[in-house]
Amino acid sequence: MRAMQHFASDNYAGICPEAAAAFAAANAGHAPAYGEDDWTRRVSDRLRALFDTDCDVYFVFNGTAANSLALAALCQSYHSVVCHELAHVETDECGGPEFFSNGSKLLPARGGNGKLTPAAVLELISRRSDVHYPKPRVVTLTQSTEVGTVYQPYEVAAISACAREHGLRVHMDGARFANAVAALGVAPADITWRAGVDVLCFGGTKMGLPVGEAVVFFDRTLSEDFAYRCKQAGQLASKMRFLSAPWLGILEGEVWLKHARHANAMAQRLAAGVQQVPGAKLLFPVEANGVFCELPEHVLTGLRERGWRFYTFIGAGGARFMCGWDTLPDSVDALLADLRALSA
Ligand SMILES: Cc1ncc(COP(=O)(O)O)c(C=O)c1O
Repeated sequence: MRAMQHFASDNYAGICPEAAAAFAAANAGHAPAYGEDDWTRRVSDRLRALFDTDCDVYFVFNGTAANSLALAALCQSYHSVVCHELAHVETDECGGPEFFSNGSKLLPARGGNGKLTPAAVLELISRRSDVHYPKPRVVTLTQSTEVGTVYQPYEVAAISACAREHGLRVHMDGARFANAVAALGVAPADITWRAGVDVLCFGGTKMGLPVGEAVVFFDRTLSEDFAYRCKQAGQLASKMRFLSAPWLGILEGEVWLKHARHANAMAQRLAAGVQQVPGAKLLFPVEANGVFCELPEHVLTGLRERGWRFYTFIGAGGARFMCGWDTLPDSVDALLADLRALSA
């Protein structure tokens, strides 16, 4: 009997075999510490090749640290950061961005399908220009979004152009960047620096790594002293090779995209099934690896009684079902069978 798979978070999945093999391969003998090792250098070079530019790369333990420290690097304490009201930085990082920036204020904006628009950004940053209002400095986008949608390259470019015009920098929370690239079928550069993004927090954990995210600075002038920020925040791994080496496993042969495409396909399978369930309603377009739907209370209770785990506090209400690199078609079908039985 295989253990039951869950849909609460793409973080429920274990380590993908390719990352595990690269991790094990790095466990050979002694190597310099604190990022001076060969694995870290090779992965950084691979990321520069992937993004087709001479970017500056840092590895940290999780997404909260990546976002918080990247935003802190862009802001002074009197600055503000425009984000979507559902953004992870606003709702799920325990004030980390404000803490690490010594008080920069998040300015949440509304926007359909979890996305910011130039108009929403403009509305917030042109409200005030006096010294009493925290000076807008950054726009942060989440790609793919917290509600499982994806920004098209032209949408990122339009927001970036608006930001540039008003002297703002652009940060991208890419905890699920892989799912977005897989969904769009574009070059990673086309939805980052070529579309005006200055800094990307590239998620590794949800892609199948044991732990860790890469902070990628496309504008190297912004990363000055970032290493000190990481160290001070307890984010400089002493045995860095074990944080960086797993990336080699998934960057090789585009394994990261293969896994992301699979997770996205499982979400499509689930969404197609949900649409056939009486009383179930999809809340957002399913464009990446998450399915958000409204379900009657007795169905939610029944699913939990049958052992399924999923979240109901994320996004704009409803139930969230996330698919991961390892989600099996059988698991999706078993969940759908229970949904159908409980809804009958
Ligand atoms: C959109 C988004 N950003 C960032 C993160 C990273 O958070 P953590 O600090 O848990 O790694 C997550 C994790 O759920 C997320 O969904």
